[in-house]
Amino acid sequence: MDDRGEATNMADASRKVTVVGAGNVGSNVTRRVAEKDLADEVVMIDIVEGLPQGLALDISHSAPVEGFDCRVSGTNDYANTAESDVVVITAGLPRKPGMSRMDLLEKNSEIVKGVTTSIVEHSPECVIVVVSNPLDEMTFLASVASGFPKERVMGMAGVLDSSRLRYFIAEQLDVAPRSVEAMTLGSHGDQMLALPRHATVGGRSLPDLMSEEDLQKLFTRTRDAGAEIVGYLKKGSAFYAPSSSAARMVDALLAGGDEILPTCAWTTGQYGIKDVYLGVPARLGPGGVQEIVELELTGDERAELAAAAEAIRAKCDELAAHGST
Ligand code: NAI
Ligand code: 2OP
Repeated sequence: MDDRGEATNMADASRKVTVVGAGNVGSNVTRRVAEKDLADEVVMIDIVEGLPQGLALDISHSAPVEGFDCRVSGTNDYANTAESDVVVITAGLPRKPGMSRMDLLEKNSEIVKGVTTSIVEHSPECVIVVVSNPLDEMTFLASVASGFPKERVMGMAGVLDSSRLRYFIAEQLDVAPRSVEAMTLGSHGDQMLALPRHATVGGRSLPDLMSEEDLQKLFTRTRDAGAEIVGYLKKGSAFYAPSSSAARMVDALLAGGDEILPTCAWTTGQYGIKDVYLGVPARLGPGGVQEIVELELTGDERAELAAAAEAIRAKCDELAAHGST
């Protein structure tokens, strides 16, 4: 292949990420994608004039110090998001103390539907990762609004919940967080499902290292971790771990395609569940969800997962009945 041909191929391989919403989560997703050079270009878009531009410039100024090459820009015009490979949707209201994620349903439905329509117009081949809450329902809404094949629309929650769980286990056992492997499934909310039998610490099975009572305490704290942080912050919700988690998914989507991450993905019969978005282990890669992986679950775990799925399905049916889709 001649030099010109090679240059063309390199241009084709350029990876572009758009982050919708330049708030706490969106600006930190942008920063993390840039700092890790996960893409060649990140565009951050928001309705507030000047906000994404100012933050993007600030992040860009850190490039020489942090040592990244990724180009970062901010905009209020969807034309600048064109031909993105991955789009992360973080636009929407965060929780305030006393609010559940579900209290955001009505307002964020309008926002997510609107931004998805604009994104799709300019990036018809992209993969969408939804972050806005309530996560499972917003992912469904984005999927309907996009008209994309289901594998190209997914939600981020499981990476965050699992990371929180891994951290709490590490703290309790006084070991390095990275030595802990654990996964949560189900919904991003009260029906989060933790899987102690599949969790390991330095390769050892978690139930061998901790009492059932301690395990339950850590699971409860993980499930309620978002509210714990909202309680401290008073206004707004968590954003450092959420942005790490979303960037992790971007990395998996743009990389070779052999990574399994807990993902809010469209089920097609796995675990006996179909036609609903649900937190499940999924192999991610170019093109989106490549496969939902079926772990061996106990009867109780399967029943809990099915209950989470039915609760999400009921909310999505409500959204459809109110014409929100
Ligand atoms: P934030 O209030 O800091 O930022 C939201 C941004 O969205 C604002 O800059 C706002 O101007 C922008 N926005 C609103 N409407 C828009 C539109 N139509 N187009 C473009 N931008 C628009 O909120 P934060 O903390 O960044 O959270 C964002 C969302 O992510 C919330 O719904 C929050 O609940 C959710 N979240 C989800 C998590 C998960 O695990 N799935 C974790 C953390 C947050
Ligand atoms: C969290 O879990 C608000 O969903 C967000 O922190």
